[in-house]
Amino acid sequence: MAKSYKIAVIPGDGTGPEVVKEGIKVLEAAASKFDIKFEFTNFDFGGERYLKTGETLPDSAIEELKKFDAMFLGAIGHPDVKPGILERGVLLKMRFTLDQYINLRPVKLYPNTDCPLKDKGPEHIDFVVIRENTEGLYTGAGGLLREGTPHEVAIQESINTRFGVERCLRYAFELTQKRKKQNKLTLCAKTNVLTYASGLWERAFHEVGKKDYPSVERDYAHVDATTMWMVKNPEWFDVIVTDNLFGDIITDLAAIVGGGLGVTAGGNINPNGVSMFEPIGGSAPKYTGKNVINPIAAILAGKMMLEHLGETKAADAIEKSVLANIVKMKSMNAGKMGYSTTEVGDLIAKGI
Ligand code: IPM
Ligand code: MN
Repeated sequence: MAKSYKIAVIPGDGTGPEVVKEGIKVLEAAASKFDIKFEFTNFDFGGERYLKTGETLPDSAIEELKKFDAMFLGAIGHPDVKPGILERGVLLKMRFTLDQYINLRPVKLYPNTDCPLKDKGPEHIDFVVIRENTEGLYTGAGGLLREGTPHEVAIQESINTRFGVERCLRYAFELTQKRKKQNKLTLCAKTNVLTYASGLWERAFHEVGKKDYPSVERDYAHVDATTMWMVKNPEWFDVIVTDNLFGDIITDLAAIVGGGLGVTAGGNINPNGVSMFEPIGGSAPKYTGKNVINPIAAILAGKMMLEHLGETKAADAIEKSVLANIVKMKSMNAGKMGYSTTEVGDLIAKGI
């Protein structure tokens, strides 16, 4: 009997709905080939809903979302909404309340995609960044004193709990073993300055690694050096684990090194709950409605979702079809692909 999955779909803003449509097209093609059934349910969270109702992500929706097997998101961000409202109100609220404590960002350069690095090709760029997703500088801990006066004080604290750090490290060690590549896990932190926060990460990293994952090579790089090595020697990396803000920063660099936002997907994962998969490019207002945006990132987000659900054959088939079709495209950039958004979706769906 076909295995059936309930998927919550949040198309969101801008080009989100366009790329989600292609992602679902490809998921449906994979489903029919591999005897899987999807039941998609749409949710309208995002800028439009906020502008109409003042609502971002109501608590009742969180309870609703917990009933799904996974979530598939397009993009959240609206030019008419003040920065911060949708980010905190939708994206971060989802991560925190659904305890999606892993932000998984694979970086893999596919042939024919634009890598800005000289003399680097697909054989050099294949690593994964695991970003802690519920702590660090993102919790909102802190506050203002004497706001609006010349003596104003702003405090924004980085929260690092042994519990939160350790569960993230364990996920990273497990994934490093599973990947069977270099079997090397790099901790990215700033132990030379952030002696408390990075100190906790470093101690936990070596304690957990030594005791429970002795076969995994433990490597360390300061965050500033990480950005340098990622450009100079990306082939050194296998899996990188880091905190929330460092992870945010290095994964933008990583995305560009790995072929750009048009092809980069990520997962916000709760290994014991509901996880969310998304293309990591934004809502791209200037390309909205033009059928020119690259849907491959969303298609690969679908592939990650299948992997997460344990449907590895279907996930592999999507990646194979992406590989077979990416070489036909002129560019990965919006408007320059040589195909429209829907045509790229058609090609990849047909290739399965
Ligand atoms: C990301 C984004 C978010 C983050 C923003 C939109 C809140 O940049 O997913 O990387 O900082 O985590
Ligand atoms: Mn980011």
